[in-house]
Amino acid sequence: MVNNPLSKYHGRQVRCFPDLVALSRAAAAQVAAVINAAVHDRGRCHIALAGGKTPAMLYQQLATPPLSQQIPWDKVECWFGDERVVPLDHAESNYRLARETLLSKVPIPANQIHPMIDDPAQPQQQAQRYEELLRASLPQQMGTPCFDLILLGMGADGHTASLFPGLGLLQEQQRSVVAGYVEKLAAWRISLTMPVLNAAQQVIVLVCGADKAQTLHEVFTNPNANLPIQQLSVRDEVLWFVDEAAYSSSIELRHF
Ligand code: 6PG
Repeated sequence: MVNNPLSKYHGRQVRCFPDLVALSRAAAAQVAAVINAAVHDRGRCHIALAGGKTPAMLYQQLATPPLSQQIPWDKVECWFGDERVVPLDHAESNYRLARETLLSKVPIPANQIHPMIDDPAQPQQQAQRYEELLRASLPQQMGTPCFDLILLGMGADGHTASLFPGLGLLQEQQRSVVAGYVEKLAAWRISLTMPVLNAAQQVIVLVCGADKAQTLHEVFTNPNANLPIQQLSVRDEVLWFVDEAAYSSSIELRHF
């Protein structure tokens, strides 16, 4: 595993970096370490990628030698934590971001890449289809598909994946994949549910930018803030990779 120390803050494993470049480099090393450990222990690694803009540099790092050559891509199954209900070549597609920055640049077999969407016209059916695929492919923990690694971001409203405040999807405890209409975005989303996020062997949350600072401070210090990402279990396997701008409101800074 990456040998940089973590600092614990309100029970959470937090690593703070000067900027997105340093954060992405360290996160890529951590992802590679987790993949290699999973393949060593279980012969395979099931990873769920995050959407949004923050992870793009991390994906580019994973696709760049020498790190890219240290990952057994033929043993990696690539899934998605959430998706916008748009065609796969749409500018908003999380799949398109991952394909352009990572998946088209590494030798991962095409049948080991699992987009969440194959028909944007039917979000509910797509969620059901993805859930069935997960259940058929991943090991399960008390009936919940168990990823080796899930990458997540955080919105300024405290959402993660596509579990937005006020959306009933956040309370879903039975299903593993849900579809929901997000009023403020006027758009459909598909997302893994919180039980799946909390069943993962490891979670890496990437938070960058001053626009996230107040929310991150709330997440870390106010248990009554009732923000969706606060439903992520507080355990050593959930690592928070944050940049200085996002962490500045929370605590004196320690650079790694
Ligand atoms: C999405 C993401 C979402 C994202 C946050 C942060 O599909 O938008 O899954 O949860 O991680 O909104 O997005 P940025 O990285 O763009 O700030």
